[in-house]
Amino acid sequence: MALREIRKQGDPILNKECKPVKEMTERLQELIEDMFETMYEGNGCGLAAPQVGILKQITVIDVEDGNQYVLINPEILEESGSQTGDEGCLSVPGYTGTVTRPQHIRIRALDENMEPYELEAEDLLARCILHECDHLHGHLYTEKVEGPLREVTAEEEGEEEA
Ligand code: NI
Repeated sequence: MALREIRKQGDPILNKECKPVKEMTERLQELIEDMFETMYEGNGCGLAAPQVGILKQITVIDVEDGNQYVLINPEILEESGSQTGDEGCLSVPGYTGTVTRPQHIRIRALDENMEPYELEAEDLLARCILHECDHLHGHLYTEKVEGPLREVTAEEEGEEEA
């Protein structure tokens, strides 16, 4: 495993559409392991492949609910409700901003073995999945932020970013 360099806002790769994954390979398995390591090192709760410079539809998520989610080619099937809260991003370090997103979602994705599964999520997990899915289509949360981005204070330092 190895840490990967996280691309920062302004890098054009973060605004590109990612390609679906057709088959799992050793290189992609290694990428997924590296993405988890890079996410944990950055104290993040999610990371998408374009954030480490790979334009493929792969994201990893850990919101400390006891699961390590791998979402390959994720599709959002249903969205309902609304939640408003603060969000951060490892590609926009040192800032946070308020974003409104659906409260509840249902998605379909492939796992690291390319097995399809469906997942229902709410609260932070739903927010994190939606944030990561946006990355796969070239979007950052800063496009959706309500009001100005705020610099994170010392107290907030260490809160989770995605
Ligand atoms: Ni992000």
